[in-house]
Amino acid sequence: MAMIARKCPEVRVTVVDINVERIAQWQSGSLPIYEPGLKEVVDECLNRNLFFSTDVDRAIAEADMIFVSVNTPTKTFGQGAGRAADLQYWEKTARQILANSTTDKIVVEKSTLPVRTAAAMQRILDSGPGTVKFEVLSNPEFLAEGTAIADLQNPDRVLIGGHATEAGRRAVAALVDLYAHWVPRERILTTNVWSAELSKLAANAFLAQRVSSINALSALCEATEADVGEVARAIGMDSRIGPRFLNASVGFGGSCFKKDILNLVYLCESYGLAESAAYWQQVVSMNDWQQDRFVRNMVGRMFNTVSGKRVALFGFAFKKDTGDTRESPAIRVARQLVEERAQVVVTDPKALKNAASDLRDLGDRVIFEPDPYAAAAGAHAIALMTEWDCYAALDYRRIYAGMMKPAFVFDGRNRLDHQALYEIGFNVCGIGKTPLSDL
Ligand SMILES: NC(=O)c1ccc[n+]([C@@H]2O[C@H](COP(=O)([O-])OP(=O)(O)OC[C@H]3O[C@@H](n4cnc5c(N)ncnc54)[C@H](O)[C@@H]3O)[C@@H](O)[C@H]2O)c1
Repeated sequence: MAMIARKCPEVRVTVVDINVERIAQWQSGSLPIYEPGLKEVVDECLNRNLFFSTDVDRAIAEADMIFVSVNTPTKTFGQGAGRAADLQYWEKTARQILANSTTDKIVVEKSTLPVRTAAAMQRILDSGPGTVKFEVLSNPEFLAEGTAIADLQNPDRVLIGGHATEAGRRAVAALVDLYAHWVPRERILTTNVWSAELSKLAANAFLAQRVSSINALSALCEATEADVGEVARAIGMDSRIGPRFLNASVGFGGSCFKKDILNLVYLCESYGLAESAAYWQQVVSMNDWQQDRFVRNMVGRMFNTVSGKRVALFGFAFKKDTGDTRESPAIRVARQLVEERAQVVVTDPKALKNAASDLRDLGDRVIFEPDPYAAAAGAHAIALMTEWDCYAALDYRRIYAGMMKPAFVFDGRNRLDHQALYEIGFNVCGIGKTPLSDL
């Protein structure tokens, strides 16, 4: 919304949320999330044509176009628990829009939703007296956290799904006009609503599948002395495959991949497509297995016990350049290490507050330390969980000097210079690589 405000100065954008604290932070210019470049965009537009408010009813009443971006987490109860999308916030919003509208509205699905949710939204909106007309569009968001501003500024494509009626075409044209302020027209795709809804789930499923595919191969590399980096390079140079999203790692995280794939799995099952469901389920199962394998490998290498040993986790965010820790592999790894009775020390340049909240039930069995040198002091092992650039630039000689021996580095992102670390004296284990170790 901040990008729309920046690119469309004649449009007044009001962002509303029921979370009072978050809105207060947005209004104060001290943002509640870390995202490179976002503050500059917000600062430029705040109180010019970008406003933040908790008065949801009023913002609905005043709007011509409403982007619904509420959370759609995985359901934790009842039918489809653990897989289906929880649509309670979504439906509540639909009813609130109906209750507060006195003029016609275009309602845009921005949240990621199961296919055909727009039909449910339309039915709720049409259940009123009929004096106000609503047109529901699907406009899924493809930005990635950490690179959101660049992604929004220069998107690969903008996808808009609408109905093939006269009113539907008018609504699509209005949204296309908004994006056309800065996105070349040929990159603005228009489809039917169901294709747009499914395309978002499909894009995330394909991206996550590439990660799980290379991670599945990483285990085979470790067993055969092939190097997953070399394999990724060799296959990535095939123009049909392409080089991106082929980095073997401890696994993918983030609020979307797992949730959206499970949602896809549930949809397939609901339509009686058991084989399609099982196919996509395996992408998630492989990701869980990769994280478990990472911890198993750590414990195995460290003489089958980490009990009482200090282990420093370098990074907790699910990827670099974000403070977001939702579904971060570091959560599962930290918990398993604590189960093995390790003393876990977590460090991260932007995500320590969220990490402390994710692991608060573990009490003093986890320490949160902003300084990576202090985190590693006295540790038996370092596990790199997030590929933050700052961790590649540390003085590992100094770190090694302060650690227990033998000292281990488990590089869950293949981001560090393994040969250099080995020459310092570390035992180094990457993902999909033969360990560099004299033990
Ligand atoms: N985070 C991403 O990178 C990303 C990318 C693409 C799509 N999405 C999708 O966007 C949606 C939101 O994701 P997010 O990461 O921003 O989630 P989030 O949980 O960070 O934010 C959702 C916000 O909606 C607010 N909210 C809930 N009910 C509300 C209501 N009735 N009225 C007003 N506000 C309400 C919540 O208070 C919260 O601040 C999800 O469907 C997600 O799949 C997210």
